[in-house]
Amino acid sequence: MGNVILIGFMGCGKTTVGLRLSYRLRQAVIDTDKEIEREEKRTIADIFAAEGESFFRELETACLRKLSGNVRNQIISAGGGLPLRAENRALLHEIGQVIYLRAEAETIYERLKNDTTRPLLQGVDPEGKIRKLLGERDQYYAEAADVIIDVDGKTFEQILCEIEQHVG
Ligand code: S3P
Repeated sequence: MGNVILIGFMGCGKTTVGLRLSYRLRQAVIDTDKEIEREEKRTIADIFAAEGESFFRELETACLRKLSGNVRNQIISAGGGLPLRAENRALLHEIGQVIYLRAEAETIYERLKNDTTRPLLQGVDPEGKIRKLLGERDQYYAEAADVIIDVDGKTFEQILCEIEQHVG
C-alpha cells in the first residue's frame, strides 16, 4: 500500500480521520501543519501573524517537496489551503492516493465556531468566511482528489469504512 493523503477544508476531520486510519492500517501519520510548526518552532498562528499567509504557503510547498520521494506507506494529513497551488496538487499526486473529505459550510462552522487556532477564520462573520473560501476552494480540492468522500452526517466509523474501500 502506498501513501494515503487526506485533503479538505479546515474542520472537515482530516486530523481525526488520519489518526484513526493510522491505527487501522498500522501506518504512521504525518500532519503538514505539525511538520511546519516543528521546523519553524512556532505555531501556524504565529507564522501568519509575523510573516503573512504567502510566507506560510511557501513553507507548505517546501514541506511537500521534502515529503515527496521520502515517505512510504504513510498517511498524510494536508493543511486545508495546501491543495490550492497547482504545483502542490501535482506533488500530492506524485506522493500518494489523494482523498478529499468534503464537508458542507454548516458542518464546518459548527465544528470550528469556537476555534482560535485558524487565522483565516478569526474576526467578524466566520461563517461568511467559511462559505466564501469553501466556494472558491472546492474545485481545487476536487481536482486534486482521486476519491471524494462526503462527510456530513457520517460517523468517523462510516468515513473510515468508505476510505478503506478505496485504499489498499
Ligand atoms: C489553512 C488550514 C489550516 C492551516 C492554516 C491555513 C487553510 O490547516 O494550514 O491555518 O488555508 O485552510 P487545517 O486544515 O489542518 O486546519
